[in-house]
This record gives sequence, structure tokens and C-alpha cells, in this order.
Amino acid sequence: MSAEVVLGVIKELTPGERRVAAIPDTCKRFVNMGMRVIIESGAGDGAFYCDDEYRAAGAEIADDVETLFEQANLVLKVKELQPNPVKARHEVEMLRKDATLICFLHPASPINHQLIRTIRDRGITSLTMDSIPRITRAQKMDALTAMSTVAGYKAVVMAADRLSRFIPMTMTAVGMLPPAKVLVIGTGIVGLQAIATAKRLGGVVSAVDIRPEAREQAASVGAKVSGFETPTELAIGHGGYARSLPEEWLAKEREALTPLVQDADVVIAGALVPGEIAPVLITDDMVKGMRKGSIICDVSVDQGGNCSLTQFNQEVWEHGVLISGIANLPGYVPRDSTTMYANTVCNFIEPLMQGGKLVLDRTDEIVNSTLVTIGGEIVHHGALKAMGHAH
Ligand SMILES: NC(=O)c1ccc[n+]([C@@H]2O[C@H](COP(=O)([O-])OP(=O)(O)OC[C@H]3O[C@@H](n4cnc5c(N)ncnc54)[C@H](O)[C@@H]3O)[C@@H](O)[C@H]2O)c1
Repeated sequence: MSAEVVLGVIKELTPGERRVAAIPDTCKRFVNMGMRVIIESGAGDGAFYCDDEYRAAGAEIADDVETLFEQANLVLKVKELQPNPVKARHEVEMLRKDATLICFLHPASPINHQLIRTIRDRGITSLTMDSIPRITRAQKMDALTAMSTVAGYKAVVMAADRLSRFIPMTMTAVGMLPPAKVLVIGTGIVGLQAIATAKRLGGVVSAVDIRPEAREQAASVGAKVSGFETPTELAIGHGGYARSLPEEWLAKEREALTPLVQDADVVIAGALVPGEIAPVLITDDMVKGMRKGSIICDVSVDQGGNCSLTQFNQEVWEHGVLISGIANLPGYVPRDSTTMYANTVCNFIEPLMQGGKLVLDRTDEIVNSTLVTIGGEIVHHGALKAMGHAH
């Protein structure tokens, strides 16, 4: 990397994506770290941060993204690189060969493998924000947890908006309307935030998870935890995360879930196994038995979905039940998710800056976990595993 760090922030191209990777406050911090900061004009508009606020924070505004890419040797984004239809060029082609890229690259996901190979072949260094290790020193960099918090909240708020009933018990002159029943399946970060939000709205909340620790956490935020339990050795794998259950146990789980799903007005489905396809826990027959007007919000849709009827990024009515597979929920809370994401990125970069340069010490656990490509090689463990080492 050349002597001066020139940090470029690109406007997101994914349709409907309103987040941006830096806010005026983090720009100020980057300038104080000795960087020159350039923001693409309008990059913050979707999150209501205007060009003038970035200028006041010490950033330059670039009208032309190609010129920005020519100058920046450290590029920040939220999502993966995309083709730019206006320039008729892919963002990966616009990056300098000596650039370092930081964004959510999801390098293990097969859909991104070709992009990762192109990044490698161009000699670009890349780090992914979805692989921050869950260690104490990295908590303030944990972009996935931050975005999951937003997703859990927004899933419940969207469901409340579409539900044909009140969520809280409501006393009226014409009688009492009972509270809605909310079932949360999978109580990781998304599920826990969904429980907390549904409780605040006055719902009667129950929860299911296969990990005992997750069940305890669900109870501690106020959910009634259902009785379905699996042997610990089947449920828990590497690092304390969930494992994929064998098919016979998934069948038992679906059986246990059937009365709970059919009694719920809202189901928030967020059961995931890291790096794998989401387990199908809600079948067509289970949906058929639900009350009409109920809602399933399938927040595991990026990994295929927990309901067999979920369609990616769509809301569909099946058997009188609304099934929402809306993806990228953090993008629907653009201001706060941007603030959180921008801070995690800045907190990640700060310790990497030494003597005015970006220094990647590969013996550091955080660098080692997040590094995807360097020196013409793919080095990310999850990506290599998913690519079958065919790099
Ligand atoms: N900084 C930190 O220390 C830190 C940060 C974030 C998370 N964590 C821990 O990691 C845990 C998991 O986090 P996550 O949100 O990334 O998980 P995740 O998104 O991978 O999974 C969501 C939940 O789905 C559950 N699940 C998987 N298969 C299931 C099935 N068949 N039926 C029901 N539930 C199923 C999992 O047990 C998990 O709780 C958290 O609960 C927390 O304890 C720690």
C-alpha cells in the first residue's frame, strides 16, 4: 500500500440497499487516523447523511465513482461488489490492484465464489465483516451481531404491521381483545431481539431452540420456552454453535412444533446452522393447519428458509397465511443499521492503522479470521472449505 491511505466509500448498488459504510462521525475518526477520505456523492442519502455533513467531517466528495476507485487504496462498502450499470463496468474491475477492500463478502456462499476468485486474480486484498471472531476484544467490531439485532427487531415490527390483529391485549368498550401469540424458532441474536421486541409490543411469546444456552437466554428475555429438547451432542458443534440435526430428529422437531406453529398468530423463524442450509422446520401441512390471517416471518431466508413455502425476498399468501421471505431486513432500518455498521467497520480498522499505514498482521486472530484474499491467494478458511480447496 502506498504511503498515504486514501479511503473511498462507495454508494451501494444493490437494489433497495440504503445503508452506507461510513457516517460523518467515523469519517472524522478516519481523518484523525491520518487518512484522506473520499465519499461518493449521495452515498449516504439512503441513510439520511448528506454530502455536506461528510464534507464538514473532513471528507472530500467525488461525483464520479471511477475517479474515486482510481484514487482509493482502501475501499469500504456494505455489500459485495456489483456490476455498475451506469459505468457498464463491474466494481471489481474498477478497484486498484493495490487496493484493500472491506465489506460483507460472504466468501463461503457459493454465489460469491466467482467474485472471490476474481478479487484474488486481480491481486486485491480483501477482508470480510461477516467473519469477525466472537472474542471479547472484537465485540465492538461484530457487524453480524449488530445487523442481527436490527433484523430481529424489524421482523417483529413488519409482522405487527401486516397482522390482521392487535399484538397487545386491548381493552375496549366493546370487549377485550386477547394478545397475539408470537412463536420464535431459533433464539440466536435475531431470535432474542425478536422476543424482546414482541414482548415490548405486548405479545405472548414462546420460543424453541435446540441449544440449552439459547433456551436459557430466551427465557431470560421473557419467552416461555417450549419443551422440545435434543441430545446435546447432536445439537451443539464447533464453538458452541448449533449443528444440523439428523433427519429423524428434524422429523421429531417438526412434530413437536406443529401444535405450537398452529397456535401462533406470528411465527418468527430464525433457526440457522452456521455455513449451512437452514433446516426446514415448517411444512406445507403445518401451514395449512394455521389460523387464517397468521404470519410467518422467515428470517433464515438468506440460507434457504425454515418454511418450505418461503420465497426469497417475497411475501406470499399460502393457505390464508402470509409468508414473508423479505431479505436484508437491516436495510429497512437504514439510519440505525448504518450507524452500527459504520462504527463496527471503523472499530475494526482503527487497530490496523500503524504509523499512518494499514498493517495486516496475519498472526492476529481478528485479521486471520477476516482476511479473504491477499497476495494472489484465497486464505479464508470458510471460503476454502466451501470451494473444496479448488482455488
Ligand atoms: N460476541 C460474542 O460473544 C457473541 C456474539 C454473538 C453471538 N454469540 C453467541 O452465539 C450464539 C448464536 O448466535 P447467532 O445468532 O449467530 O446464531 P445463528 O444465527 O447461527 O443461529 C440462530 C439460532 O438457531 C438455532 N438453531 C439451529 N438449528 C435449529 C433447529 N433445528 N431448531 C431450533 N433452533 C435451531 C441455533 O441454536 C441458534 O441459536 C448466540 O446465542 C450467542 O450465545 C456470542
